[in-house]
This record gives sequence, C-alpha cells and structure tokens, in this order.
Amino acid sequence: MPDTSPRGLTRLAFGGDYNPEQWPESVWQEDVRLMREAGVTMVSVGIFSWALLEPAPGEYDFGWLDRVIGLLHENGIRVDLGTPTVAPPAWFYRAHPEALPVTADGTRYEFGSRGAICHSNADYRAAARAVTVKLAERYGDHPALALWHVHNEYGVPVSACYCDSCAAHFRRWLARTHGTVEAVNEAWGTAFWGQRYTGFEQINPPRATPTVGNPGQALDYKRFADATIRENFTAERDILHRLSPGVPVTTNFMTALSQCDSIDYWAWGREVDLVTNDHYLITDGRRTHVNLAMAADLTRSVAGGAPWLLLEHSTSGVNWQPRNPAKAPGQMARNSLGHVARGSEGAMFFQWRQSRRGAEKFHSSMLPHGGTDTRVWREVIELGASVESLSPIRGTRTEADAAMLWDWQSWWAQNLSWRPSEDHDPRERADSFYEALYDRHLTVDFAHPEADLSAYPLVVVPALYLMTEAAGHNVREYVENGGTLVVSYFSGIVDEHDAVHEGAYPGALRDVLGLTVEEFSPLLKDERVRLTGPDGSELTGDVWTEFVVPRGAETVWTYADGLTAGRPAVTRHPLGHGTAWYVSTRLDAQGLDALIGWAADDAGLAPRADLPRDVEVVRRSGASGTYLFAINHTAGDTKVPLESPGTELLTGERAAGRLPVPAGAVRVVRLDG
Ligand code: GAL
Repeated sequence: MPDTSPRGLTRLAFGGDYNPEQWPESVWQEDVRLMREAGVTMVSVGIFSWALLEPAPGEYDFGWLDRVIGLLHENGIRVDLGTPTVAPPAWFYRAHPEALPVTADGTRYEFGSRGAICHSNADYRAAARAVTVKLAERYGDHPALALWHVHNEYGVPVSACYCDSCAAHFRRWLARTHGTVEAVNEAWGTAFWGQRYTGFEQINPPRATPTVGNPGQALDYKRFADATIRENFTAERDILHRLSPGVPVTTNFMTALSQCDSIDYWAWGREVDLVTNDHYLITDGRRTHVNLAMAADLTRSVAGGAPWLLLEHSTSGVNWQPRNPAKAPGQMARNSLGHVARGSEGAMFFQWRQSRRGAEKFHSSMLPHGGTDTRVWREVIELGASVESLSPIRGTRTEADAAMLWDWQSWWAQNLSWRPSEDHDPRERADSFYEALYDRHLTVDFAHPEADLSAYPLVVVPALYLMTEAAGHNVREYVENGGTLVVSYFSGIVDEHDAVHEGAYPGALRDVLGLTVEEFSPLLKDERVRLTGPDGSELTGDVWTEFVVPRGAETVWTYADGLTAGRPAVTRHPLGHGTAWYVSTRLDAQGLDALIGWAADDAGLAPRADLPRDVEVVRRSGASGTYLFAINHTAGDTKVPLESPGTELLTGERAAGRLPVPAGAVRVVRLDG
C-alpha cells in the first residue's frame, strides 16, 4: 500500500508552483529566504521543465535541478517534484510531428503552448516514460522529495485527439470493451441511419460529420479518451512506485465542473495515492465561495472522504478570464481555509514568484511583481501563520450531512446533441441544488450513483440522465431502507449506452418515484410556469415541464398554467421506510429552497436558523479531535453557536457559547472533549 501523505511533511502544505528556471540563480537565494519568512512548507518544482532537463534527445542536464532541490532541502522545504511530460520539447515535435493532437475537424495543433499531446502516440509514450525513469532514478530517494506530481491537469487543454493513431487505439479499446463488432453495433444502435459496421477497421473516431453523429459512438469516445490519458498516468505512476518507493504519486485534478469536463474523476481517484486539486474562482457573477465549496466537496468525495490537498489556487486575480478581478482583502484566506475545512491538508498556489515573461505574467502569485511591500505578500505571510496553527487538524475528515449523486459519464451523455432542450444544463442543476443545500448549511458529499448511500439521511439527484439498472436498484434500496431522495427531471432516462430504458420514463427510477412521465414538454426561452401548492402558495418553474402520471406518488405541487396545467409538478412517494421526491420543472432558488426544506424535514435534518446566510460552518473530526470551521463571507460581524467550549486555533483564545466571527474572518475551534 503506497503512502498517501507527502513524505516527511509534518505540517500542512503551504507553498506553490516554483519555477526557478525562469530566473537567474541569484534570485533563488532570495526565494528561499522569503519562503521561510512566509512559512512555506512545500513547493511544486519542474512541471514544465522537460526542454531544460533534456536539451537534446537522450542528453540530460540535471545540474540546475540538483541545485534547486538541494537549496530547498537545506532550508527545510519539501519538494513536490513534477514529471515534465505535459510539455515535450520543440526537438521532440520536430522529430515526431504526429505526436501533436488533431481536432475532430482534422486540424493538427502546433508546438508553442503546452499540453499539445496525442496520448496514444507511441513516440510520446516512450519519451515520457524515459524522462520519468531518469527523474525517478536521480531523485527517487532524495531526502527533500515529498510527493511526485505527474504531468499537469490531464484533460486540459486537449481532452481528446482524433488522429489515425487514436483511431487504431480506439478500435483496440472497442474490441476490449465490447468484444465483437456486433456488440458495438448493438450498443450504438447502428441500425439507425444505416450506420452498421461489419469490421472494426471501419470504425473511426467521431470526426466531423455533416449532421449529428452516433451518440453511442460519441459517448464511448469520451470514455476511450479518458481511459487513454489515464494509461499514461498509470504508466508514469508505476515507474515512480518502482523506482521511488514510499513517495506518494499524484496528479493535479480540476474537479470544479466549470474547469474540466472530460475526466472521469471517480476512476482517477482510485489511481492516485493522494488526491490533489487545482481550483480557480470563476467570476461569472455567481457566489464564488459556493462554487469553491462544491469543488472542495467533490474533490474530497473522489478521494473517498480521505484528506486531499489543494495543489493550486490563486492569491488574487488570474489572467485567463475575460475580466480578472483581484481578490478582496481577506478573500485569499477565506478561500484557502474553505478548502482546508472541506478536507484539504493545506493550501498551495500557482505560483510562488510572478513571472516577468510568458503568457502568465499577469497572473497573481505569492510574491508579486511589486515584491514584499504589497498587500498580497502581507496576506500571504498572515495566511502562512494561520496554516501553521492548524497543524493539529492533519488527518481528520470532514463530516457530511447529505449526498448528491454525480457521474461524469452521465454528464457527457447528457451533453450530446439533439436533446429535448438546449436550455437544460445538468451542471447548472447540480450547481443550483448544491447552492440550496449550502444555504441550508448542509455539508455535501458527492457519491457515484452505484455507491453505498446508507450513511446519508438525504440524497439529492439533480440531473442524472444516464443511470444503469444497478444505480436504479441502488437508490431504490436506499429509500426502502429509510432514506430521503430528491430527484430532478430528466434523470434515469438512458442506460450506459445512451439507450432509453425500456418502458415509460424514467426507466431507472419510476418504481422508486412511484410515477411515470408520458412526455417531456420543454418551455420556450424565457417562458415560465406557475405551480400551486397545497396551501395555495405559488412557485415558479422554467426551461422544462413534463406530463407526469402518479403511480403511487402523491401530488404535492401542481402546474397552474402552460400545457401541463393541472398535472403534478412536484410529487412525494413514501416507499418502505423512506420517501422519494420528484420535481419535473426547473425551480428557481426560492422553489429549490422550499423543496430541499420539505425533504430535509422528511430526513430529520433540523434547519439551522441560528446561522446567517453566507456564514459557512463545517466540521472536521478524527483521532486528534473535532474542529469547527466558521467562515464569515459577509460584510458584518457575526456569532456562531458552539456545542461545547474549545480553543480557537488562529488566535489561540478560549471560546465558548457564541463564537464571535468578525466580518470576512475565519475561525477554527478545536472543541474540548
Ligand atoms: C492551472 C495550471 C497552472 C497555471 C494556472 C493559472 O490550470 O496548472 O500551470 O497555468 O492554471 O491559473
């Protein structure tokens, strides 16, 4: 069993990507001096350094990296060492131009950026393995080495390649997965539009077609592309395990649904020794701290609830969005400790020193262009001290109140073309249901649809279009055994091949929900429908409605207008010892809050009327005790009730009764007992 926490790191991780190769060596001394001043405990090195480490084929230059790692070691800073395989050198591409990836419409990308990789290319595979072997041989037992950082953010910027090598690899994958070409025909439904194949050699990637291609083929290609990329991760990981035993291996994920949509992190979570994640605030007008909490919860969930590590976020603005606002004073600390509350064993950044050249020179960093006499630097110093004082929480686990079912493969399937409405966005539903749970101060675990759900009083299914029969049985059993389930429309519709489950919709869920859906009836843009409740009160829906036929479920809310007027809009189905709710339209925030409120009542989850909106309270617990994190995202001071007295770790003060949390501040109380 490989180790799962960075070797030799006795505190939480605090630091960032360190790219000393962008600077003269004279700067390195200042770097480590300032790292010590800031309380940096670990840095990520060498992620993009292939061209320097192997300046010509088979010729290696490790001198500079030896000196950097040595210097860090002398200063007590642990090293997260990158394998540089995300950025092959120019000479490699000139020798192997076919290693550059090809888009679905046949464009081959050029060298000059990063991540331009065809993951099935044999020359790339050989070269990546060779440089990984060299690094592992040289640094595998270096005393500074804490963690191996394979590649960088697999899945972006290129999620799939459509070249001839990938076509051949796809055919092999299909043969392994389906066995025969007849099985592929069956799975993809190639009887439709005359798409039948009589040999594997006739099958290509889903390249550009005049109109919509085969959805089964498109879905399988996403699985194939993800699996092909994963082959390259596991190959590097296995080399590192062999040559550098005892040092955990990770690769930095991007679990936030807005940041990477091509990687099945349930599968990847099982392959890494330690789950690590990169998270950047997306400034699209929504509450960024809610999106952050969701990404952190999702990351913890792909880690199976175990501690994970935030490997990158930003001290202030990024540089790759249309508009890149700076973070407000205190926001960096709230962001960092928000991740820690939800299971991260530290807070790391991109990057240590702000670049002067290259595409990311306007991206914030720990040490800005302006140097140490800057607000960001002062906040970094303060955060370093806070992180240091939180050391006792290492190894504890975040406690969750509810679960949300999530499946990347269902998301891929649902995003294929020609669905009933382009306005239905499964990610939007996941975000909105999450936000409703967040606003009720419920901490959420994400769960795969076939995972054991018995620990959760409440399970929410925002939009799970693809559900296997096994997943359907799983949620049914969950409800029968006493669980409370909330399901949103367009869930449980197709099986793993994107084939509609036999019989009435929603095939995988009609028993547990006690209803069938005769027809979907999506709404026009900006069209709204009213729903009336048992007490005459009103809710509003848009985007989607359905002709629901109760078959055991009771109607709680009814459509008041539109084509479905008089029909059930929200239903409740008592089944066994539990209850299953269904909502057949897109409720707004007020409606979702009401729905989650009723379901939480059924689940026995008491409302937290004692906590104001945007005051986040999360608990971590374990062998060293129970820790309550209170994060005040509001502009006003507040107080958070404590169930027992304790010690506040950031100030060192005793706390009891109602814990004062000033505007914008974070408090972490180690509860007595
Ligand atoms: C990450 C990436 C880093 C850096 C950062 C900028 O996605 O891993 O190398 O580019 O974004 O926000």
